[in-house]
Amino acid sequence: MWDQIVLGLLLIPKLGLVRESTHGKFLISQSNLNEISSSGYKFYNYSQTIDHFNYRPESYDIFQQRYAINDKYWGGAKNNSPIFVYTGDEASLESVIRSAGFLVDNAPHFQALLVVIEHRYYGESNPFGSRKQAYQNTSTLGYFSSTQALADYAQLITELKKNLSANNCPVIAMGGSYGGMLASWFRLKYPHIVIGAFASSAPILYFDDITPENGYLSIVTKDFQETSKSCYRTIRESWFEIDKFGLEINGLSVLSQIFHTCRPLNNTPELKDALASIYSAAAQYDDPTTQPVNLLCSGIDGAFDEATILERVFTGITPWNGKKQCFDIDVYNIDDSASETAIGWYWQTCSEMVMPIGCDSNDTMFQAQPFNIYNYTMDCQKKWGVTPRPHWMTTEFGGHNIKSVLRNFGSNIIFSNGLRDPYSSGGVLCNISDTIVAIYTTQGSHCLDILPATPADPEWLIAQRNEEVKIIERWIAEYKANIIA
Ligand SMILES: *[C@@H]1O[C@H](CO)[C@@H](O)[C@H](O)[C@H]1NC(C)=O
Ligand SMILES: *[C@@H]1O[C@H](CO)[C@@H](O)[C@H](O)[C@H]1NC(C)=O
Ligand SMILES: *[C@@H]1O[C@H](CO)[C@@H](O)[C@H](O)[C@H]1NC(C)=O
Ligand SMILES: *[C@@H]1O[C@H](CO)[C@@H](O)[C@H](O)[C@H]1NC(C)=O
Ligand SMILES: *[C@@H]1O[C@H](CO)[C@@H](O)[C@H](O)[C@H]1NC(C)=O
Ligand SMILES: *[C@@H]1O[C@H](CO)[C@@H](O)[C@H](O)[C@H]1NC(C)=O
Repeated sequence: MWDQIVLGLLLIPKLGLVRESTHGKFLISQSNLNEISSSGYKFYNYSQTIDHFNYRPESYDIFQQRYAINDKYWGGAKNNSPIFVYTGDEASLESVIRSAGFLVDNAPHFQALLVVIEHRYYGESNPFGSRKQAYQNTSTLGYFSSTQALADYAQLITELKKNLSANNCPVIAMGGSYGGMLASWFRLKYPHIVIGAFASSAPILYFDDITPENGYLSIVTKDFQETSKSCYRTIRESWFEIDKFGLEINGLSVLSQIFHTCRPLNNTPELKDALASIYSAAAQYDDPTTQPVNLLCSGIDGAFDEATILERVFTGITPWNGKKQCFDIDVYNIDDSASETAIGWYWQTCSEMVMPIGCDSNDTMFQAQPFNIYNYTMDCQKKWGVTPRPHWMTTEFGGHNIKSVLRNFGSNIIFSNGLRDPYSSGGVLCNISDTIVAIYTTQGSHCLDILPATPADPEWLIAQRNEEVKIIERWIAEYKANIIA
């Protein structure tokens, strides 16, 4: 009943110091992927500038950036019909298109042209030819940043509009998760290119000291607590049970047996990290159709009567093994066999996207694991030879005092969230002005509203999307009134 599909688009975080413990994998029901709206898109290459911010000779180099266009519903340049641009994120163009359901679902209504652009260093958009060369070291990875990516989008969209003689067509940026952050930043940095941005589940405030570090894990905890108190208590106590075995002679081999691990455990943290990754992913993608948290807790609560705490946990996580007969804890490591999303995002978090996620006390269902920038930095230096810049995102894009800063300066941004999504703790959850608005649902999970609509969608999700559509309609109407005036 539980199909596991690896989509690159959206990430669960690297937890605290144990950076290698997580993965770029999420679970989504098969039904959400039915009729994936990939049809109607045609793929193109664009000769993109490698370095937008420099005049050294090598900065004139170009690479082939992939993008896709769907003009099936477009009302055309003559009618000033809108252009929806999905600001591609940490995945291949194909998987971004699969997730970007909101665009194709609403294109007929808006008679919109759809454009999806692949983020540099993902999919086939590798500067320096191959992926291997692009990722070899900081000499080539140095061009891998959000500011370069936004400049790519600005340049490509500007030229595309010229080519289509569509200069008066309003463009709206859209994206989810990291793509949502990019969409909102694009509106703030390039207001002459996009008239508005729809940013779904964009944790633009999870930087620096703006959001408490335990925001993410507190919401994971809340999701489990609300689903089942006993399940929550079992998980909360399980860490200490694991620690007890860790202190015993042969304790690790007993743990390996209890959890049916595919290989013998080397230590307890690798087991705890794998479990924490599963709980985080379940909470982040706790969609109303498949309800992974409920599924997990049904296993834990429904284990046989005499089951020990760890036997209960094992029962709960068994569906996550997929077709495997054993618990593959290495799936949750970022090694050479990890997905391109996991590896690329690892670089991004080690350079500029430093999100301090941890928990400094015992108030979540996880053991205390404070975010420690020293350990984080050591790990990044070891892995990539790079020192993270934890203050750069707020310096470049803001975030502190966002309300007073954006109230007078910005306009036309939708920040949408689902409050069951742990990343909503770093999202914009209050209305900043009449046109910079927060649209959230209490039951929603990560990026739910931008994923393809399905017949099983609950009323509150339909209402959220309808509200978003209405707001975008207003932006376009106002824009059209102004160009005619
Ligand atoms: C884009 O360019 C790459 C090589 O740089 C090529 O392999 C690919 O076929 C091109 N794709 C399209 C749609 O032209
Ligand atoms: C990266 O690798 C290339 C090719 O091996 C080498 O020429 C260059 O010096 C390296 N750069 C760094 C920063 O290590
Ligand atoms: C615009 O047209 C030129 C000339 O045909 C082409 O080389 C370029 O790739 C086009 N760019 C975009 C973004 O469509
Ligand atoms: C944390 O909570 C657990 C479960 O309630 C408890 O057993 C443990 O002693 C607590 N640890 C600390 C350091 O307070
Ligand atoms: C940082 O790393 C050291 C060495 O591995 C470890 O002893 C310490 O507990 C870590 N600190 C935190 C806050 O995780
Ligand atoms: C923000 O304003 C919109 C109306 O534009 C409203 O629907 C929404 O509920 C408001 N959000 C919050 C968090 O108050």
